[in-house]
Amino acid sequence: MTQCFHTVKELRDYLKPLKAQGKTVGLVPTMGALHQGHATLISNSAKENDITVVSVFVNPTQFGPNEDFDAYPRTLDADLEVVAKAGGDVVFAPSPKEMYPSADDTWVEVTGNITKVLCGKTRPIHFRGVTTVVSKLFNIVGPTRAYFGQKDAQQVEVLRRMVKDMFFDLELRIVPIVREDSGLARSSRNTYLSAEEKTAAVVLSKTLKSALEKFKSGCTNLNDIISFTKTEIAKEPLANIEYVECYGLPGLYELKEEITAPALLAVAVRFGTTRLIDNIILE
Ligand code: PAJ
Repeated sequence: MTQCFHTVKELRDYLKPLKAQGKTVGLVPTMGALHQGHATLISNSAKENDITVVSVFVNPTQFGPNEDFDAYPRTLDADLEVVAKAGGDVVFAPSPKEMYPSADDTWVEVTGNITKVLCGKTRPIHFRGVTTVVSKLFNIVGPTRAYFGQKDAQQVEVLRRMVKDMFFDLELRIVPIVREDSGLARSSRNTYLSAEEKTAAVVLSKTLKSALEKFKSGCTNLNDIISFTKTEIAKEPLANIEYVECYGLPGLYELKEEITAPALLAVAVRFGTTRLIDNIILE
C-alpha cells in the first residue's frame, strides 16, 4: 500500500534520511483523479529515480472564480491504487491550509506573452497559480527530476522558463501525450463528457494529426494551417472553439506568415460545458 502524507513535515521527515543516503527523488505533481496519463508520468519517474513522490492537490489558486474547482473530481483512495500500480512510492496530499499557510499570498509568476497567449487569455490567473504551487512543491520535495505531460504544453513552456529563471536545481522531464484508443487525449475532465460528447471530441486529435500531415507535406503558411484546423473542428456540431493557435518553440514566440519548425499547434474547445485542450508539435 502506498504511504500517504498530509503535512510538509511528515514528507520531509520521510525524505531526509533517504536523501542522506544519496537516493534520487522523482516528483510527479498532479491534481488527482489519476488516469493512464498520470500513471505514465509515475512509471517513467519510477524507472529513473530511487523514490517517486506523487503529489495530489487540487490547487485552488489556479482556478478562476467561474471554473470547476468545487466540481473537480477528488478520488484519493483510487489514486493511491493507481500510484502503487505505476510504481510510485509515496503520495503527498496536503490540505489547502497546509500549502497556503498565510492569510496573504506569496506568488511566483512568469510574466510576458508566454502566460498571456493560448489558455492565458481566458484564464488570466491560472499560470500564476501553477507556478506558485509547483515552486512550493519543488521546495518541499527537492526532487532530482520532476515530471510533466506534453498534454499541457503551455504549462510545460511556462515551467521551463520558471526553472531557468529561478535556478531550480532539478531536471524537467516531459512525457508525450497519452491518448485513448480513439485518439482522445486522456484528461481528468473527460469524466464530465457525455458518451455523445466523448465521441465528438475525437475530432480534436484527428484534426491535429491531419494538420501535421498537411504541414509535413509542405503547407507551412500560418493562416492556412490555422484556418484548416478551425474548419475541420467546426464540422463537428458539438464542438465550440475557444482558440486554435500556433506559436514557435521553445518559449511560445509569435510566428509571422510562415511556421518555422518546431511550432506548437494548440486548441481549446468546449463540448457542452466541458473545456478540452489538445496540441501537436509541428516539426
Ligand atoms: P493535472 O491536470 O492533474 O496533471 C498532472 C500532470 O499530468 C501534468 O503534468 C499533465 O500535463 C499530465 N497529464 C495529464 N494528462 C496527460 C496525458 N493525457 N498525457 C500525458 N500527461 C498528462 O497539470 C496539473 O495537474 C496541475 O496544473 C499541476 C501541475 C499539478 C499544478 O497544480
